[in-house]
Amino acid sequence: MCGIVGYVGPRKATPVLLDGLRRLEYRGYDSAGVALVDEGAIAVTKCVGRVGNLIEAVDDTAGGNLGIAHTRWATHGGVTQPNAHPHCDMTGRIAVVHNGIIDNDEGLKARLAADGVTFASETDTEVLPHLIARHYAGDPHEAVLKALQEVRGTYGLVVVFADHPDLIIAARNGSPLVVGLGEGENFIASDSHALVRYTRRVIYLEDREVACITATEVNSVQLDGSDAIHTVEELEAIYGSEDKGEFPHYMLKEIHEQPESIGRCLRGRILPDLGSARLGGFDMSPRDLTEIPRVTILGCGTSYHAAMVGAMAIEGLARVPAQAEIASEFRYRNPVIDPKALFMAVSQSGETADTLGGIKEVVTKGGRVMGVVNVVGSTIARTCGAGVYIHSGPEVAVASTKAFTSQVTALYTFTLMLARTRTLGPHDAVELARALVSVPDVVSEYLAEPGPIEEAVRHLVGARYALFMGRGLSFPVALEGALKLKEIAYIPCEAYPGGEMKHGPIAMMEPGTPVIAIVPDDQHREKMISNMQEVRARGAALTVIHSRGDLKAQSLASVSIPVPRIHTLLTPLISVLPLQLLSYQAALALGKDIDRPRNLAKSVTVE
Ligand code: M6R
Repeated sequence: MCGIVGYVGPRKATPVLLDGLRRLEYRGYDSAGVALVDEGAIAVTKCVGRVGNLIEAVDDTAGGNLGIAHTRWATHGGVTQPNAHPHCDMTGRIAVVHNGIIDNDEGLKARLAADGVTFASETDTEVLPHLIARHYAGDPHEAVLKALQEVRGTYGLVVVFADHPDLIIAARNGSPLVVGLGEGENFIASDSHALVRYTRRVIYLEDREVACITATEVNSVQLDGSDAIHTVEELEAIYGSEDKGEFPHYMLKEIHEQPESIGRCLRGRILPDLGSARLGGFDMSPRDLTEIPRVTILGCGTSYHAAMVGAMAIEGLARVPAQAEIASEFRYRNPVIDPKALFMAVSQSGETADTLGGIKEVVTKGGRVMGVVNVVGSTIARTCGAGVYIHSGPEVAVASTKAFTSQVTALYTFTLMLARTRTLGPHDAVELARALVSVPDVVSEYLAEPGPIEEAVRHLVGARYALFMGRGLSFPVALEGALKLKEIAYIPCEAYPGGEMKHGPIAMMEPGTPVIAIVPDDQHREKMISNMQEVRARGAALTVIHSRGDLKAQSLASVSIPVPRIHTLLTPLISVLPLQLLSYQAALALGKDIDRPRNLAKSVTVE
C-alpha cells in the first residue's frame, strides 16, 4: 500500500527519494509524488501511474538536500493527480506525506473551510497540512504536536517546512515508520526496503511518537510531550537477492526460491534424532507446551490459508483443539479469549492492519500471541514480542508464494514440537522430523519436472468459471490455488471441499468446466476419487494433482500432474507448487501484469 521515503543530508535528495520509491513499488500504488525543499521554497511534483512517470516528470538535476516522497494507494478520493501526495497548506510552505486514514477528516474539513481554507484534493490527508499551518508560529515541532492533538485516526506522517531546509518531522500512530541512520545523513521510510541500500542501522518509531530528524540527530517525544525511548536496531542481512535475476518475473523467481527459503525456515530448528524441534523465539518449555488448552491462528489471505493448514496439523497430530480465524472477522466479533490459550498471528509483511487489530484484541483481553512473520522488525513481530521468523527473504511479487510454504513449514515445526510433548511417540516423531528435513529436496525435485502445466492452462484461459477441489489438508491448498488465480489472472473461480460438491457447486458443472482437483495419497483419496468421478460425469475438464504412481487418479484426469510423494501431513507443501505455476502461466498467457496485479497491494496497512 502507500509508501513513504524522506531524506536529509549532504546528497541531492531527488535520486535517493526516487530510488526509495522504486524499492517500495512492490507494495502496490496508483500514483506518486515528491516534495523538495530548496532555497526557501518547496517544489512538489506528482503524477498518476507508475514511479517511472514521476521519474520522467521530476528534474533530477534540481538541488535540494531534503525531501519527502510518496506512493499512494487510493482510499479517499479517486486516482487523480491532485489526490496524489505530497499535500501542501495554502501557502505551499508546508508539505506532508501520509499513510493511514484520518477518521475525523470531515469535521476538521468543515472547520478549516469555515476559516477560509480551500481544498485542492478529495483526500482525508489534506486536512493535515492546513491544520499544521494554523498552529505554525515558527516552531515546526510544536505545530505538528498541536495539530495531531486534534486528529483521530491512523497515520505514518512526514512533514517538511520551507523555512526549515534541514528538518523532517515524522509522527506515527498505527502506520509504520522507520528512521534510517546514516553518517551525517538520515532517512525515513514506511518500510525498511527503501533504506537497505543506504544503511542497516534503524530506529522503529512507536505509536504516538513524534520525531525531529536532521542530518545528524534524531530526537523524539510522545504526543503528550513526554520522552520517547527508542533503541537503534540492526536490520538483519537480507536473504536472497532483491533482483529478478534470470527470471522474467519476481513471482516465478520466488516460486523457484522455495527449496532455499523452506531450508532457511527449517535450519537449526529440527532435531531429527530426537524427533522434535526447537523454536527459540517461542520461549516455551515442554511443560508450557503440555498446558496449552487450545490454539487459535489468525491471518488474512494466503496467511489465513497457511493458518488453516497449521490448525489442522496441530489438532490432527497434537490433539490440541485448534482453529484458524480470518483476522478481519475475529477482531470485530468480540471473541472470548482464554488467557491460557495460545494465539498465533501469521503474516508475511508483519504490517497487515487487520491481523494487527486481531492481535490487539487478544492482548487487550489478557491473551498472548506469538508471531509467525517474515519481515524482521515489522510491527506485528514487535507487537507480539515472541514468535518465529519464517526467513523467506524479501517477497516482492504481490502474489505470495514462498512465504506461504515457509509459513506452513514454521507451523509444522511448531506442531512437531507440540505433538512430541503429548501424542507423538519417538518412532513417528523421528519419521516426521526426517520428512520435514527432506522437504527442500522434494520441492526441488518437483520444480525440476513440473508436469504439463501449460496443457492445464489451456483449459483455464477463456473459462467463465473454474473450481478448485480438495479435502482435509488439501482444502486450504485448493483455496490458495483459487486465490492465486483470481489475484493475478482475474479468472473467476472458487474452492470447495470435495464433500460439499453435491450441496451446491456441482450445479456449475457443464462440458468443459475446468476443475482442479488436489488428490494426494492420504485418507481422503478414495472420497476424492468419487468426487472427481461425479464432476467428470458432467463433462468437467479435470486437472488432477496427484501423488506420483497413482494410476487411478491419473486415469480420471484430462490433465494429470504427478507430484513426488511425501509424508501425508506435509503434502500441502508440494501440492501447492503446481497451483502457483498454474496461476503464473495463466496470467502470462492472458498478458496480465503478474508482479503488480490490479487493485492489490503487497502490504495491506489499512482496514
Ligand atoms: O502480509 P500478510 O501475510 O499479512 O498479508 C496477508 C494478505 O494480504 C496476503 O496474503 C494476500 O492475500 C496476498 N496478496 C496473497 O497472495
